[in-house]
Amino acid sequence: MAPRTVLTLLTILLEAQSCAAIHWLGLTVNGSSVGWNQTQHCRLLDGLVPDQLQLCRRNLELMQSLVQAARLTKRTCRSSFTDMRWNCSSIDTAPHFSPDLAKGTREAAFVFSLAAAAVSHSIARACASGDLPSCSCGPAPAEQPGPDFRWGGCGDNLRYGLQMGSAFSDAPMKNSRSGSQAVRLMHLHNNAVGRQALVDAMETKCKCHGVSGSCSVKTCWKGLHDIGDIAAELKSKYLAATKVIHRHVGTRKQLVPRELDVRPVREAELVYLVSSPDYCTKNEKHGSFGTQDRMCNKTSNGSDSCNLMCCGRGYNAYTETIVERCQCKYHWCCYVTCKKCERTVERYVCK
Ligand SMILES: *[C@@H]1O[C@H](CO)[C@@H](O)[C@H](O)[C@H]1NC(C)=O
Ligand SMILES: *[C@@H]1O[C@H](CO)[C@@H](O)[C@H](O)[C@H]1NC(C)=O
Ligand SMILES: *[C@@H]1O[C@H](CO)[C@@H](O)[C@H](O)[C@H]1NC(C)=O
Ligand SMILES: *[C@@H]1O[C@H](CO)[C@@H](O)[C@H](O)[C@H]1NC(C)=O
Ligand SMILES: *[C@@H]1O[C@H](CO)[C@@H](O)[C@H](O)[C@H]1NC(C)=O
Repeated sequence: MAPRTVLTLLTILLEAQSCAAIHWLGLTVNGSSVGWNQTQHCRLLDGLVPDQLQLCRRNLELMQSLVQAARLTKRTCRSSFTDMRWNCSSIDTAPHFSPDLAKGTREAAFVFSLAAAAVSHSIARACASGDLPSCSCGPAPAEQPGPDFRWGGCGDNLRYGLQMGSAFSDAPMKNSRSGSQAVRLMHLHNNAVGRQALVDAMETKCKCHGVSGSCSVKTCWKGLHDIGDIAAELKSKYLAATKVIHRHVGTRKQLVPRELDVRPVREAELVYLVSSPDYCTKNEKHGSFGTQDRMCNKTSNGSDSCNLMCCGRGYNAYTETIVERCQCKYHWCCYVTCKKCERTVERYVCK
């Protein structure tokens, strides 16, 4: 074998060991079954690294938010990718991951950034809801309020969310045993991209006061967008992600774009090290489930179109009968009656 091939193989082997870093998504399995009021509950998930265990023991009250973040990450990832060949179904097996998420792929880049955003999001929101004794509402914004409102209410505590969230989600990458340095740098970068998307997603929310909703007095605060909006932002970053390589820049080894033009990695872009398969056919070694039997959309020309989803293999059509409530009538007073209507729809699934 040529030295270059050996080097590539070695790199792939090292990169395959990086899955521990989002082990904590497995908190959805056992995390809801306990009250998180005893430090031994931290042992429920053996995938936590020592720093995460310590964080858990010292901040038990945070754990409900982390379980919530794990649930949110899974649900949001799947709903953001229903129209794609890779549909995030492999996240369901957390804390065990197939190669699509266990290697330094573009898909892992998305999941890490989303998970990091979700952790800080959940904590920032929990502060504002009064669920955490260690934090409360975010500080009033430094900027001047507009002429028609004043700062008030209770804003999401983004600062605390970012602080505790990054301590938790970055901890595995500070541990040299979880994967090669290149993969750890990749995950750390993408986690930061996820958190930055959160910072950019603070918006001003207001509530009206005054005589019969006249809105003569308005109080406003800074609140986070829903995680679905942040996931949409991260998905466009996923589509535009940059392939990077770990190499010497001066005396330090850094991640730099693989393409020819020399520029540093941008703070807002997701990066990945390993190219993904096209996810058209089943290949367990690459973590591809294939798109056979996936539903496709005959009239769409996006990624869920039958042509793209089925990778040109064609599709089968079948009809499905849907029963719906229809012709609803309101009766005085106070109930509604409906009829049941049947409707047939055409469905298409990939060959
Ligand atoms: C922990 O919480 C559970 C349920 O929320 C409760 O039954 C139990 O008594 C609590 N244990 C301690 C030590 O507070
Ligand atoms: C859930 O708890 C069971 C029993 O304690 C344990 O065997 C299992 O490994 C745990 N699963 C996860 C994903 O932590
Ligand atoms: C996602 O893809 C997998 C594998 O092709 C499939 O089994 C699953 O039904 C898909 N999920 C959704 C929601 O389409
Ligand atoms: C299919 O795609 C079209 C065009 O994008 C859209 O209007 C329609 O709702 C989609 N149908 C289904 C079943 O998703
Ligand atoms: C289909 O693609 C064309 C351009 O190729 C675009 O203008 C159009 O909006 C697309 N339609 C849908 C339903 O996505």
